[in-house]
Amino acid sequence: MNWIKAISVDAIAPGGKKVVDLGDRKILLVNHSGEIFATQNRCSHMNLSLKRGKITDDGGIVCPFHHSIFDLRNGEVKEWCTFPPVIGSMMGKMKQQQPLTVFPTRIENGDIMVGLES
Ligand code: FES
Repeated sequence: MNWIKAISVDAIAPGGKKVVDLGDRKILLVNHSGEIFATQNRCSHMNLSLKRGKITDDGGIVCPFHHSIFDLRNGEVKEWCTFPPVIGSMMGKMKQQQPLTVFPTRIENGDIMVGLES
C-alpha cells in the first residue's frame, strides 16, 4: 500500500467534499462528522461525478443524478438508481449494482493521507 498525501485536513470542513487527483485517479474526499472518507469520484452506475452528492446522516453519499446511495465506509450500495420515479428504476436495471471503490485514509501532520494499492 502506498500512502499518498492529498490535502490539508483543514481544507475540508465537516460536511464538506473535495475531489483530488492522486496519480491517475480522481478521488472524492468527504469529511463526515470529522471523519475523512475517500472513494472513487465516479458513480458506479453511469460513471458520473459524485462531487455534488449529498451526505446522509448515517454516512452515505447520494449520487446527484439517479440517487443511488453508497456507504462511505465500504462503498456498498444502499439504494440503486431510484430517480426519477419509474424511469430511474428502469435505468438501474440496465446495469448490475456495483459498489464504489473506497480507500483507507489517515491524518499525518495535519494532512490527509490516502492509501492506494501498489
Ligand atoms: S450516475 Fe449515479 S445513480 Fe446514475
